[in-house]
Amino acid sequence: MIQYSTLHFIFPHCIYILKIGFYCVIYKHPLIHLYIIIMELYVDTANIEQIRHCAALGFVSGVTTNPSLLAQEDPTIDVKQLLLDIHKTIGGHISIEVISTKKEGIIKEASEILEWCPEATIKIPMIAEGLAACSELAKREIPTNVTLVFSPSQAIAAANAGATYVSVFLGRLDDIGVSSREVLEQICEIWDVQQYDSLIIAASIRHPMHIIDSAAAGAHIATIPYKVLLQSLEHPLTTSGLDRFLADNAKRLAAKK
Ligand code: E4P
Repeated sequence: MIQYSTLHFIFPHCIYILKIGFYCVIYKHPLIHLYIIIMELYVDTANIEQIRHCAALGFVSGVTTNPSLLAQEDPTIDVKQLLLDIHKTIGGHISIEVISTKKEGIIKEASEILEWCPEATIKIPMIAEGLAACSELAKREIPTNVTLVFSPSQAIAAANAGATYVSVFLGRLDDIGVSSREVLEQICEIWDVQQYDSLIIAASIRHPMHIIDSAAAGAHIATIPYKVLLQSLEHPLTTSGLDRFLADNAKRLAAKK
């Protein structure tokens, strides 16, 4: 006969094990998994060498470009071919920005881009005409990325225009003395309350702290310049720790001889 004291001991443990089992089932369920945010990392560059290295890294799932990044590349290069090579190399997401500032011009440019790069996301500036174009493209189920977003009210408007992505610029806010962390946190909080579908891209990232702030705030994606991406992988204790491991291993091998 099991005594009451034995039951008293076993029961909480059984509950604990059941809770773990329940947790695993729930979190492994594909439908539930949809609600778990894992911040993706994109690279913010138009340089094919950098793209090749990022593709080899294996954890970069997309690329964002803009006219300024393209202007840093060889001016004799065929831009369309460059963007196609970038996409072929890294796969996943590619944002290509329009130059037009009028609704009709943006829509025309978007159609042209999609003719030669059907998987492109059309990057549109956060202006009234841009949002009008974004609404129209959303009706046609064309993916859009509303860029140059600096405030929660701009982000709300972009989400209501049906933007697939909303790019919130961090570094440029900090440059003018506005806390990018606070702005991004507020936008993410609004997203939680309003349950907007648009995905938040933390852009204009200048240092690893911006990546951490973006993940902590709940951004869906951080688009990171190549240099900052590599910088974010480093730590002096990792370097010295690895040096020590390798030196000790070499010492052990030498002692064996
Ligand atoms: C990305 O979509 C933006 O174009 C980019 O992050 C801007 O970064 P910058 O402010 O460093 O130019």
